[in-house]
Amino acid sequence: MMRAQTRSNQELKSFYTLNNGLSEKAKCSGTACFVADKSMGIPLPHQGSGHGRIYCLGKCFRAPASTEDSGVPRIANFSRKSVVVEPLMNHPYQSLEQYIHENGMSALKAALSMGQDSVISEIEKSGLRGRGGAGFPTGIKWRSVAREKADTKHVVMNGDEGDPGSYIDRFLMEYNPYALIESMIICGYAVGASTGYAYIRAEYPEAIRKFVNAAREMESSGFLGKDVMRSGFHFDLTVVPGKGSYICGEETALMRSIEGQRPEVSVRPPYPTEKGLFGNPTVINNVETLANIPWIIRNGHDAYSELGYGKSRGTKLLSLNSLFVNPGIYEVEFGTPLDTIFYDIGGGMKHGSIKGVMLGGPLSGIMVPAEFKTRLDYEEIRKTGASLGHGGIIAFDESTGIGDLLEHVATFAAEESCGKCTPCRLGTAELSRMFRKDSNGSLDYARFQSDVESLANGSLCGLGTGMAEFARSAEMKFSQEVRLCFM
Ligand SMILES: Cc1cc2nc3c(=O)[nH]c(=O)nc-3n(C[C@H](O)[C@H](O)[C@H](O)COP(=O)(O)O)c2cc1C
Ligand code: SF4
Repeated sequence: MMRAQTRSNQELKSFYTLNNGLSEKAKCSGTACFVADKSMGIPLPHQGSGHGRIYCLGKCFRAPASTEDSGVPRIANFSRKSVVVEPLMNHPYQSLEQYIHENGMSALKAALSMGQDSVISEIEKSGLRGRGGAGFPTGIKWRSVAREKADTKHVVMNGDEGDPGSYIDRFLMEYNPYALIESMIICGYAVGASTGYAYIRAEYPEAIRKFVNAAREMESSGFLGKDVMRSGFHFDLTVVPGKGSYICGEETALMRSIEGQRPEVSVRPPYPTEKGLFGNPTVINNVETLANIPWIIRNGHDAYSELGYGKSRGTKLLSLNSLFVNPGIYEVEFGTPLDTIFYDIGGGMKHGSIKGVMLGGPLSGIMVPAEFKTRLDYEEIRKTGASLGHGGIIAFDESTGIGDLLEHVATFAAEESCGKCTPCRLGTAELSRMFRKDSNGSLDYARFQSDVESLANGSLCGLGTGMAEFARSAEMKFSQEVRLCFM
């Protein structure tokens, strides 16, 4: 059975900014739009004016953007073998019939005949790591849920894609929802879960619409719901639209949001694999992670793990912001040097040169040109004090001042903090205030450093620690510019 969830819990309305959906005329306040405005010399509306901004519409390829803007990004493959984008480069799938015509739903068919254990082994041996940010091995996650003895288990697709600068998942959900639903069913079969939830952010209304339609088509053709492909396996899917809260991308907050509770981050353990959605063992995977599954099942783990570098196997989708000569979504093999991505694929900057790059959205460290020989690899990037995150790449030029960027990122973090830990609740707001132009010289370097220190050590989740990572890298890599803010 396929359902689209509607929620109307009055008490929680204050937590979300898009309770009534996306307005027809709204400007995006995300980081790609922020740096594009700077580059084009567009003055910004003052940031510290309260909660309610839309932080990313997933249109960073044509930033600055608004809800009225349309258009599609450039999509291309630069890896030796394309795992994800090749069939999608020219067109989105228009119907289930077309999807079946091209691949016959062959991954699901193969998975159902391979048996549960073999499916999990394939994913384990492929070396696939979660693409949502943390890079956790997908096979281990699936194996943990499969081992749990429970009558009810769930599969959750994380389609919240909250990182400003990232529009990878939006494109995957709009262009090929069939493959994602196929993956969720394969996962459900492998781990023994018969219910799935697809959580999709409100800022992507087209993705929600396409996903719901695709699920209906798949149900009426016998791929979803009762007796999937006459295998005896049942899998029900509920599509849950988000309501405009960044923290709902964090897995525990996301599950509380589906349950209709206040979407605060929970302490782990217990992990979602043991006690997740509604207290049941749950696999929660990012959209792009799921997009890799059908190819791995169809082509085998060897073909997949032969691509990549170090512990980062396979390929990664990256989205490049509008300041690149060639903004777009690119599939790149892990191990590719960053300068190849920024200059050969991205074509460098439209105006001036690259001053810095945030690879994993605003809540990650900045990388500077001297570090661009680094390879695209989770571990190599970590060594520079930055993170790959989800791969929403935002490059900025000389027109973006580091003090302004610190204010923008801290304001974003302050508005999106779930408020559970004190260093994050107070520290992000304090940093945002400090860097405001009208702060009347209240900047205090020692205070800045102690706030950052508390965020790094006292935050429960990646929002607070990501803010600290960003601030530390700004301080380390643009020390003169940051110190000038305090004079
Ligand atoms: C503040 C915060 C925001 C997050 N936002 C997202 C998100 O928008 N999408 C996503 O897939 N994962 C997001 N994550 C990571 C998820 O918590 C989780 O690790 C991921 O969905 C697991 O899937 P994966 O193993 O396939 O990557 C976020 C994490 C944090 C700490
Ligand atoms: S670090 Fe911030 S967003 Fe994360 S749990 Fe703590 S208060 Fe919430």
